[in-house]
Amino acid sequence: MILVTGGAGFIGANFVLDWLAQGDEPVLNLDKLTYAGNRENLASLDGDARHTFVHGDIGDSALVADLLARHQPRAVINFAAESHVDRSIHGPEAFIQTNVVGTLRLLEAVRAYWGGLNADAQAAFRFLHVSTDEVYGSLAPTDPAFTEDHVFEPNSPYSASKAASDHLVRAWHHTYGLPVLTTNCSNNYGPYHFPEKLIPLMIVNALAGKPLPIYGDGQQVRDWLYVKDHCSAIRRVLEAGRVGETYNVGGWNEKPNLDIVHTVCGLLDELRPRADGQSYSGQITYVKDRPGHDRRYAIDARKLERELGWKPAETFDTGIRKTVQWYLANPEWVAHVQSGAYRDWVQTQYAGASA
Ligand SMILES: NC(=O)c1ccc[n+]([C@@H]2O[C@H](COP(=O)([O-])OP(=O)(O)OC[C@H]3O[C@@H](n4cnc5c(N)ncnc54)[C@H](O)[C@@H]3O)[C@@H](O)[C@H]2O)c1
Repeated sequence: MILVTGGAGFIGANFVLDWLAQGDEPVLNLDKLTYAGNRENLASLDGDARHTFVHGDIGDSALVADLLARHQPRAVINFAAESHVDRSIHGPEAFIQTNVVGTLRLLEAVRAYWGGLNADAQAAFRFLHVSTDEVYGSLAPTDPAFTEDHVFEPNSPYSASKAASDHLVRAWHHTYGLPVLTTNCSNNYGPYHFPEKLIPLMIVNALAGKPLPIYGDGQQVRDWLYVKDHCSAIRRVLEAGRVGETYNVGGWNEKPNLDIVHTVCGLLDELRPRADGQSYSGQITYVKDRPGHDRRYAIDARKLERELGWKPAETFDTGIRKTVQWYLANPEWVAHVQSGAYRDWVQTQYAGASA
């Protein structure tokens, strides 16, 4: 089996669902269920014996050691993180606690477990750390895209904490021989994305007749990766990545935020037109930019293609259409997230139980 951390969040939940759609290897899913963790993302797995959910913290060394000893995973995939940049600006400490201290404790628990495996199991074991392109800093408009050799220049408390975790993972390989892999990916989008992030926020605000807030001039450029393509990249790196290596994962879709919002509005105009016949783009409003807002990120994903033969399956046009369609088809999920009802699960279902 594999141990996934943060598997109730946006990417982790998509990964768990995809993993179990592709095969039958069981998943042990450890998630603290912060505001970003949503058990409803995994509702389709209720009663599925291949999925075991554990409510807990990657920083709880005793819990992680116990889970590793009892379930004997062949791999750990670490998605767990505080991940929202705006929140890191208002409250950086939680980011250091989970992304740095939590990763340290997870690495230490995994190292102890791995050290006790027999030689074959040790050689086959993998610790895959999921990270971000934001560790590389910001690019000027004509700079080449980030390769894996780009220096780390994190600019937000979030990206600084992720950069620190990447360094720890690297060091645990070089110092202790732990068989690690790291992936640094660009902005993901797709189903189950928390609606405070750009694309889902624009969809739900547009439908609710609310303003579509654009930071600054809206010309911040990001590379957009459909979340299921990210999941397939992680599976491929886990399967065939060279131990100790870092792989950038990107969608080859560099777009300014304002273009993204116009694309979303155009799709909604087509799929769910406004009652007054006007375009949703009329709801766009400009708001004060985020402090230290990086201007451009771009991922060079050629190493992953060259070495492991991975390429994204979706273009931006196909991926964004699927995303908008998913939000239109799942209004209950959106309503539960917005009302906070998804948090009730934590109160009603769990009192610190473990698997
Ligand atoms: N979303 C993106 O576009 C993006 C881009 C690049 C990298 N990443 C990275 O991918 C990973 C997943 O991102 P996401 O967008 O799914 O994030 P998310 O915020 O949606 O989910 C994070 C999950 O981790 C859980 N969690 C938080 N702290 C925990 C802890 N201490 N112990 C156990 N679980 C904990 C949360 O409950 C949540 O379920 C993160 O490491 C993030 O840095 C995300």
